[in-house]
Amino acid sequence: MQHSPSNKMTLLLFLLGCTHYGHAGSDRPKIDSIFSFGNSYADTGNFVKLAAPVFPGIPFNNLPYGETFFGHPTGRASNGRLNVDFIAEGLGVPLLPPYHGESQNFSHGANFAVVGATALDLAFFQKNNITSVPPFNTSLSVQVEWFHNLKPTLCSTTQGCKDYFERSLFFMGEFGGNDYVFLLAAGKTVDEVMSCYVRKVIGAISAGVEAVIEEGARYVVVPGQQPTGCLPVVLTPYASPNATDYDAGTGCLRRFNDLARYHNAALFAALSLLRRKYPSATIVFADYYDPVIEFMQKPDDFAFSDSSKLRACCGGGGPFNYNATVACGLPGTSVCANPNTSINWDGIHLTEAAYGRIAACWLHGPHAHPPILAAVRRTCNCPMEHSPSNKMTLLLLLLLGCTHHGQANMYSGHHKIDSIFSFGNSYSDTGNFVKLAAPVIPVIAFNNLPYGETFFGHPTGRASDGRLNVDFIAEDFGVPLLPPYLGESKNFSHGANFAVVGATALDLAFFQKNNITSVPPFNTSLSVQVEWFHNLKPTLCSTTQGCKDYFERSLFFMGEFGGNDYVFLLAAGKTVDEAMSYVPKVVGAISAGVEAVIEEGARYVVVPGQLPTGCLPIILTLYASANATDYDAGTGCLRRFNELARYHNAALFAAVSLLRGKHPSAAIVFADYYQPVIEFVRMPENFGFSGSSKLRACCGGGGRYNYNATAACGLAGATACPEPAASINWDGVHLTEAAYGRIAAGWLRGPYAQPPILAAVRP
Ligand SMILES: *[C@@H]1O[C@H](CO)[C@@H](O)[C@H](O)[C@H]1NC(C)=O
Ligand SMILES: *[C@@H]1O[C@H](CO)[C@@H](O)[C@H](O)[C@H]1NC(C)=O
Ligand SMILES: *[C@@H]1O[C@H](CO)[C@@H](O)[C@H](O)[C@H]1NC(C)=O
Ligand SMILES: *[C@@H]1O[C@H](CO)[C@@H](O)[C@H](O)[C@H]1NC(C)=O
Ligand SMILES: *[C@@H]1O[C@H](CO)[C@@H](O)[C@H](O)[C@H]1NC(C)=O
Ligand SMILES: *[C@@H]1O[C@H](CO)[C@@H](O)[C@H](O)[C@H]1NC(C)=O
Ligand SMILES: *[C@@H]1O[C@H](CO)[C@@H](O)[C@H](O)[C@H]1NC(C)=O
Ligand SMILES: *[C@@H]1O[C@H](CO)[C@@H](O)[C@H](O)[C@H]1NC(C)=O
Ligand SMILES: *[C@@H]1O[C@H](CO)[C@@H](O)[C@H](O)[C@H]1NC(C)=O
Ligand SMILES: *[C@@H]1O[C@H](CO)[C@@H](O)[C@H](O)[C@H]1NC(C)=O
Ligand SMILES: *[C@@H]1O[C@H](CO)[C@@H](O)[C@H](O)[C@H]1NC(C)=O
Repeated sequence: MQHSPSNKMTLLLFLLGCTHYGHAGSDRPKIDSIFSFGNSYADTGNFVKLAAPVFPGIPFNNLPYGETFFGHPTGRASNGRLNVDFIAEGLGVPLLPPYHGESQNFSHGANFAVVGATALDLAFFQKNNITSVPPFNTSLSVQVEWFHNLKPTLCSTTQGCKDYFERSLFFMGEFGGNDYVFLLAAGKTVDEVMSCYVRKVIGAISAGVEAVIEEGARYVVVPGQQPTGCLPVVLTPYASPNATDYDAGTGCLRRFNDLARYHNAALFAALSLLRRKYPSATIVFADYYDPVIEFMQKPDDFAFSDSSKLRACCGGGGPFNYNATVACGLPGTSVCANPNTSINWDGIHLTEAAYGRIAACWLHGPHAHPPILAAVRRTCNCPMEHSPSNKMTLLLLLLLGCTHHGQANMYSGHHKIDSIFSFGNSYSDTGNFVKLAAPVIPVIAFNNLPYGETFFGHPTGRASDGRLNVDFIAEDFGVPLLPPYLGESKNFSHGANFAVVGATALDLAFFQKNNITSVPPFNTSLSVQVEWFHNLKPTLCSTTQGCKDYFERSLFFMGEFGGNDYVFLLAAGKTVDEAMSYVPKVVGAISAGVEAVIEEGARYVVVPGQLPTGCLPIILTLYASANATDYDAGTGCLRRFNELARYHNAALFAAVSLLRGKHPSAAIVFADYYQPVIEFVRMPENFGFSGSSKLRACCGGGGRYNYNATAACGLAGATACPEPAASINWDGVHLTEAAYGRIAAGWLRGPYAQPPILAAVRP
């Protein structure tokens, strides 16, 4: 219920920005040594030593490499210091000696990172005929072996090693970027890399983290991928004449950034599993993606020149100043006048100016989870809480658009689905609330037209002009539209809908105990709906085998849940920050619901996340702000509410991956409500919506967003727009049938579900 200190800390640091670094808190354990594993983003001189006998002209053995800080090349692939150097400085530790360098004094740590190193072993690439991988045997596992060999010189007794590693910080990565680059160079598509290799790469990084923890590491920082679609080395060879391949805002290649985000989300999920497994270790996810994207979006804010955005400072010309045959450090290249105002150094690597800013954000936040200084300050073995700084959660959500999806025939072999069971709130209620509330509330708005006008021609209790997601999905499977559990029809041979308008994830008793009186007194929360299902089950099947056969052909929806919990908390006067502190409880309740139905026999469970609530007319109206900075400039949505939704979704996504590990025989789908709605709002015309409908309800009582609580849709004083099919939002709270239909299609076939439902139900 209350903020944990580390959350407050992160928020504070977020406000301070990332440029305040170098002041070390007095209450943290002293860090005496740093060990680093990785590739050219962290190599401080290994490659030049290893490769010198083989390669005569290594470009970054030449000036201008090193010119800004060291005044001479050091083997670092930059004009000066790297992240790991800035972090060493920030912690008061000498700059890391390369393991293969001259100095063999490793009392303050060692750097094992090597230019070109991959997460996967060289043998793996060779076995698969990926000949684009250079034949240096320097992969992650080899670097870990080097560390293993070095360790006896650092400490010998159990207690001695424990004391030593209490004061050591480990970096595991960045890894993966080279694996993907070599796979792409070998002719694989981005889709193939995503569907076949990301999981392997994440497995190798996880294994590396486990290996160093088993050797004694206590603090491990795991960096993700940069937005590789913004690198000149990618922009140049993969240049496309098709403008839709580029992100309009940044000019970066979208598919490559999709791959990086996909990797990062998978890595983030893997780290949450490792935190569970090793509660005494503190594992930091270090975000390389968001800071670089922020540099691209607002270079001025970070003192970078606008013209440097996608251009290497040092290179051989061309639109991005990158030419592979005339690379920085070789004759024929030029270097920009002031590298301090450039983001990218040589087309592949960043400038010291960029690394310094990123390192600051890793030390203090907001681009590390938790920030490194907060991580090493922990004295208890408390499990790490996710910080509510939500920048990073966005990337988790965006990735959901990146799964391998496509032609319907890809899914032709799916299991037959005969029944659907749905739990949730007004986004999926097909008639329970109107039955339940009729005796208590005389006038229920969505018992009146224009609710239902588009498809049914009359109100059905659905909070829309027509069908909902769950209806479209039933249609796709050839299953009758779900009868509401509390409705007239008691024939549930094809499933039942337990969803009720207003239902919460947390129990009514919880709100009552905490004096949250804004929650209406209907006892319809998730656990109550699950109890209804439990009561119904004996009528569906009786024997163990009979139930197994039945549920093999059943699809379950657990949610959306949580939106009402947060709305009621906010209505009770809680701030968005306070509401965020309830997210783990809400996600815990949803997880418990998923587990409950799996234990009853469910095999296919779809778990929808939150909509971008900051884009809903009801929220935009009730929480209107005079301060333009409260709104997202691109969409006009209220930022903090969307941050809450993204935070919930990131936590739910992580919880779903934990559940997948725990229940391997079930297929659990994360269904993304956020990304499709954001896309509709950003580019309504691309989805067949009218540009003017973006944030305006179709049906309502006027006002800027056509939402007025006292003249709500279905009541006197409200009217519906002439063409609901051209609107995204129906009544200020819920979506139109047109919007639900598009989202349902994206949940069935991708890209808005992970995995797409039709892929999940394949035998
Ligand atoms: C290693 O370097 C540290 C200072 O960084 C010094 O105190 C120590 O004596 C050196 N050890 C050896 C064996 O030279
Ligand atoms: C790489 O080195 C490791 C030992 O560090 C060895 O086990 C492995 O076989 C080598 N791989 C290749 C492809 O040479
Ligand atoms: C690799 O190439 C060899 C020789 O062309 C072939 O025999 C082998 O099947 C290939 N392996 C894979 C995994 O493609
Ligand atoms: C550009 O790419 C989009 C999406 O991949 C595709 O629909 C469109 O046809 C392409 N346009 C051209 C001119 O190739
Ligand atoms: C790259 O540099 C080489 C050598 O100067 C030149 O022949 C080639 O045209 C350049 N490529 C591009 C795309 O500018
Ligand atoms: C660039 O930054 C370095 C320190 O990082 C500084 O020494 C140097 O004077 C700066 N150069 C310019 C041209 O501002
Ligand atoms: C329930 O409905 C199905 C068709 O949807 C029908 O086959 C079955 O006979 C009905 N059961 C009862 C008890 O009415
Ligand atoms: C809600 O109903 C459940 C049984 O379904 C009951 O255990 C619980 O006490 C009820 N909660 C309240 C607050 O009435
Ligand atoms: C709820 O309100 C009651 C009466 O005002 C008070 O005794 C109780 O401490 C409150 N509970 C919480 C959790 O705030
Ligand atoms: C608007 O909000 C920003 C950030 O919360 C704050 O810095 C600024 O002072 C506010 N401006 C006004 C006019 O209140
Ligand atoms: C909302 O509707 C009521 C009833 O029609 C009206 O009195 C009120 O002025 C409206 N509020 C706004 C903000 O338009």
